[in-house]
Amino acid sequence: MYDFMLGTKEEILSHEKDFLVAVKRMLPRWLNSIPDSEFISICDLADSQGKKYSNNEKMVFVETGVGASTLALAWYAAKYNLHTYTWDTSSAKAAVIRQVLSEAFSEHLGSVNSYWTLVPWMSTSEHLGITALGKQGFKCCLSFHDSEHTWANVSGELQALTPLLVDGSVVALDDANLKWTETNFGLVNTHRKKLGWPLIQLDHVKPDPKGEIHWRLAKELLEQNFESVEMLEDYYKSNFKEDPYFGWYSTEFIEKVKLGTEVSDELKHRFDSFKVSKRR
Ligand SMILES: C[S@@+](CC[C@H](N)C(=O)[O-])C[C@H]1O[C@@H](n2cnc3c(N)ncnc32)[C@H](O)[C@@H]1O
Repeated sequence: MYDFMLGTKEEILSHEKDFLVAVKRMLPRWLNSIPDSEFISICDLADSQGKKYSNNEKMVFVETGVGASTLALAWYAAKYNLHTYTWDTSSAKAAVIRQVLSEAFSEHLGSVNSYWTLVPWMSTSEHLGITALGKQGFKCCLSFHDSEHTWANVSGELQALTPLLVDGSVVALDDANLKWTETNFGLVNTHRKKLGWPLIQLDHVKPDPKGEIHWRLAKELLEQNFESVEMLEDYYKSNFKEDPYFGWYSTEFIEKVKLGTEVSDELKHRFDSFKVSKRR
C-alpha cells in the first residue's frame, strides 16, 4: 500500500526530502497531523543533528506522538546510524506507521527495528517514559514533542528530557501556540460534540484553563537548565502561509479553530525549536 514507485534509489537519495514529503502525503489524515512545511523543518533538524552525532550508539532522537513526524525522524536516524524512540499510547496508530516504514523505506534502510522503537506508554511515566530512557544511559540530540498539548504534559516531557540533552541539542514542539494548562478543552469539546453532549463553556471553568503560550513557557523551562537557549529560524516559519496542507484540510481547520484544538493566532509559533547549550 505504501510502496509506490517514487524514483530510482539514486534519485530518492539525492532528493530525499521530496521523497519523504511524497510518502507523508500518502498517509491517511489521522496519521498526518502536521503541515508539510513543519515536516520539512523536522527533516532539516534531523538531518543536521543526525550528521553531527552519526554512529553514536547512545545518542537518540526522542519523539512523543506517532505519525507523519515519525517518518522524518526515523529516516534520518537510519541515515546516520542513530535510533529514534517514539512514545505513543496508541499502538494502533504506531502499527500503521510501522507498515509505512517497512513498505516505503525498507528497500533503502533495511529493518525498521534497527532504527525505530515505539514505546507504547505515557511519555511522562517514571518507569517507561523519557526518564527511563535516560536511566539506560541514552542521550538525546533532537526531540520533537507532539503528544498531549497541555502545559502539564509538555512540561513533564521537557523535565524528563532535560537530563538527556547535550550541548547543541535541539528541542522542537508542535502546537507551541496553544495555551492549555491541565486539560485540552478543545479536544474535550470535540469529543463532546461528537457524542451530542453540551460543550463545556470555558468562561465557566475555574481556574482559567488557559495560561501562557507554550513556546514561551518551554523557552523559560529550558533557560532554567541552560545558559544559552536559541530559538531557531526554520522552513515552517518562512513557508507556512503557502503550505498546501492548510488549503487541503481547510474545512476541518475552520472547525478546529471553533472548538479550540487549533488557533490561528501566532500560527508562526505552531512549530518552534530551540538549540540549548551551557548547562547550568
Ligand atoms: C497529534 S498526535 C501525533 C501526531 C504526529 N506527530 C504527526 O506528525 O502526525 C498525538 C498523539 O499523542 C498520543 N499521546 C497523547 N498523550 C500522550 C502521552 N502522554 N504519552 C504518549 N502518547 C501520548 C496520542 O495517542 C496521539 O496519537
